[in-house]
Amino acid sequence: MGAATEENNYREINIEFLAKGGDEGFDIFYKTDDYGTTKFIKFASTERKHQEKIMRILEEGADQEYYIHEDDLFKYYKYATNSLKAVMANPNVPLQEKTEKIYEVSKGVMKEFFENNVSEKILESSEEVMEMMEDCMSSAEAGFHGIAAITSKDYYTYTHSVNVGLYCMTFGLKRGMTKNDTRQLALGGMLHDVGKSKIDHALINKNGKLTDEEFEQIKVHAAEGGKIISGMGCFAGNVVRMAAEHHEKFKGGGYPLGKIGDEIHLHARICKIMDVYDALTTRRSYKKALGAFDTLIIMKKQMAHDFDPDLMQDFIRLMGPDL
Ligand SMILES: [Fe+2]
Ligand SMILES: [Fe+2]
Repeated sequence: MGAATEENNYREINIEFLAKGGDEGFDIFYKTDDYGTTKFIKFASTERKHQEKIMRILEEGADQEYYIHEDDLFKYYKYATNSLKAVMANPNVPLQEKTEKIYEVSKGVMKEFFENNVSEKILESSEEVMEMMEDCMSSAEAGFHGIAAITSKDYYTYTHSVNVGLYCMTFGLKRGMTKNDTRQLALGGMLHDVGKSKIDHALINKNGKLTDEEFEQIKVHAAEGGKIISGMGCFAGNVVRMAAEHHEKFKGGGYPLGKIGDEIHLHARICKIMDVYDALTTRRSYKKALGAFDTLIIMKKQMAHDFDPDLMQDFIRLMGPDL
């Protein structure tokens, strides 16, 4: 097996999440460079007999990176989610730190899905992480500003996905939607672009203007996303519709079906606002990130037909006075 191939099979992990997990039993490796050949050497496993070794690096701090084999990704994320639950229950951990940790795990899940072609099964953990995030956010006063403080401003499909999930959640909470609706809205926000996994990576990351033909290819992600989510069988219908309808425009002319007004699911109309807001407030190689105020002006003045005006008004109001 060549070095490059082997490297592709291992994923760096956050050793902090090994702190207080269960006994899930996956191996942990470190990387060495053996005369130009990368090798992964087993360091420990999460079995009880290796706990001491893990506790030692947690106490002393890790001086190198640790990895797991990709076959153990599901176990790792299950483990990380359990560790997060312990962090959530700890009153001594500040809220900001809790939200940052959940953001990191969510980002990891979405990154595996979009960049490493891991099966969509990994998306199942998004429900649990979003639930924890909701507990944090509902007890925080910070609202949209708190979210802005933890979200990544560099655009990747995976950071964008988590950001949109968090904006949707905040909107649901601030607007006083039911717990169930807020949960569905957050999940749908996080999963709205999963259809992009079916599109060529180079096209997704293309700098600058797309040709008409390329744009047609990109458009497919909405319907594909709906198919992926409904195919998983574990998400509600409104989550499916958020993926399928988040590029429809309120006054018509969107895709894939050109639906108008109330024909577009309420959650998808909310998602559209958060989607554009996040896209404009993050930077890409070919454009700068806009500030919140400038973004809202553009959305209100230049894109008014794209959004449900009542929801847009609510969004601006809920963003608070100190933009
Ligand atoms: Fe999209
Ligand atoms: Fe999007």
